[in-house]
Amino acid sequence: MAETESVQPAAVSAMTMDMLVSLCKRRGFIFPSSEIYGGLASAWDYGPMGVELKKRIQEFWWRQMTQLNSNIVGLDAAIMMHPRVWEASGHVENFTDPLIDCKKCKQRFRADQIPEENLKAHTCPECGGELTDARKFNLMFTTHMGPVEDEGGLIYLRPETAQGIYVNFKNVLQTGRVKVPFGIAQVGKAFRNEITTKNFIFRTCEFEQMEMQFFVHPSEDMKWFEHWKERRLQYYLDLGVRKSKLRFHQHGPDELAHYAKLAFDIQYEFPFGWKELEGIHNRTDYDLKRHTEFSGKDLTYLDEVSHERYIPYIIETSAGLTRTVLVILSDAYDEDVVEGEKRVVLRFHPRLAPITVGIFPLVKKDGLAEMARKLDDELCEDFRTFYDESGAIGRRYRRQDEVGTPFCVTLDYQTKEDQTVTIRLRDSMKQERVKMADIAATLKKAIKDYRRVGE
Ligand code: GAP
Repeated sequence: MAETESVQPAAVSAMTMDMLVSLCKRRGFIFPSSEIYGGLASAWDYGPMGVELKKRIQEFWWRQMTQLNSNIVGLDAAIMMHPRVWEASGHVENFTDPLIDCKKCKQRFRADQIPEENLKAHTCPECGGELTDARKFNLMFTTHMGPVEDEGGLIYLRPETAQGIYVNFKNVLQTGRVKVPFGIAQVGKAFRNEITTKNFIFRTCEFEQMEMQFFVHPSEDMKWFEHWKERRLQYYLDLGVRKSKLRFHQHGPDELAHYAKLAFDIQYEFPFGWKELEGIHNRTDYDLKRHTEFSGKDLTYLDEVSHERYIPYIIETSAGLTRTVLVILSDAYDEDVVEGEKRVVLRFHPRLAPITVGIFPLVKKDGLAEMARKLDDELCEDFRTFYDESGAIGRRYRRQDEVGTPFCVTLDYQTKEDQTVTIRLRDSMKQERVKMADIAATLKKAIKDYRRVGE
């Protein structure tokens, strides 16, 4: 019979970013980029556990957008686009941060991140040296296409995926059998030459976005704005994020992006404070109008029923995929005490966990390992499994707790007699005995019915 753990759930300490970064490294979620060369500031690589988590989040978003909404279609546009796109979008002119340098220590700061007293006294918050005046600094990365590095070959790495959708508006309209209101969804890399990149993967120069642009009649913009605002909050609750850690923040006039008439952020309470996770923007007809002007192509929409021709308004939902990874990790991290020892546990929703079920023979001998391997071969058709036969069973549970595996199935001597196994639940550490033949159905139900304790 598999051992039962003695449980004394108790909060040990509040999570810090250092604790999370250390767990992510130790358990193969996230590594510093090019680490053997000393790393590259603010660039990160997703390890075996991290890439599974990121893919699960992306798949969940994609399913919610394109499968559960018959009026949303997908797109995958190129990262490198015609440079005129970024003139039309306003990014060449407006996508800037005001930056201030210290003349003494040479550090560069975003103006809004220098304390008020330093701004007034014109002194560096780090070394007290003299500060320069604020200068506009464009956040877009540039490179060159073709054999000669001249102005003619100038290319921008896209700072948002959205523009790939706008320039394909007509293509999708003509081929996608869509009618306003409809949406186009896209997931992909974006690049910004960010100066302030602390806080792990929160703000990086290379990141991934999950954006959906919803095209509506101008008279219905507020109705759809409210619709998507509520739907996007619900999405994070469905991902298992705690309600108390989420809130809306409306942009004030000086926060609004150059394209937005109205914007709300969904914020999450990170260990370093409430910060943006997703933006919901009313972009009006700004983008399609500008692309019409700059490309000379007609980007109007003809309503076949009313015969009205107009430029649709766009309601945008713009989520950071890599930032959502940080939210899910931060929200899942927990510690309690088991058998007198601290247990680190990631309380992922089972639909996001990199491994869904660990499979362990209690001992390697007496045919238990063979039975467990056979079960693994069967279950891996439907679930992400992990087979482990090394070490004491308690250690094996602990290793799975640290990567957030919600279920562990153990085969013991009773299994040989009556074909039953124990399923151990990560959150409560309770074990229940089920028939081997019923495991898949039991797991599917447990995933569907999952509720985090206390939520
Ligand atoms: N198309 C609109 C747009 O890009 P944004 O508010 O600048 O809007 C949307 O970005 C989301 O992209 C943010 O809420 C955030 O999750 C993510 N994001 C933006 N910059 C990022 C960065 N430097 N690193 C990681 N994620 C970032």
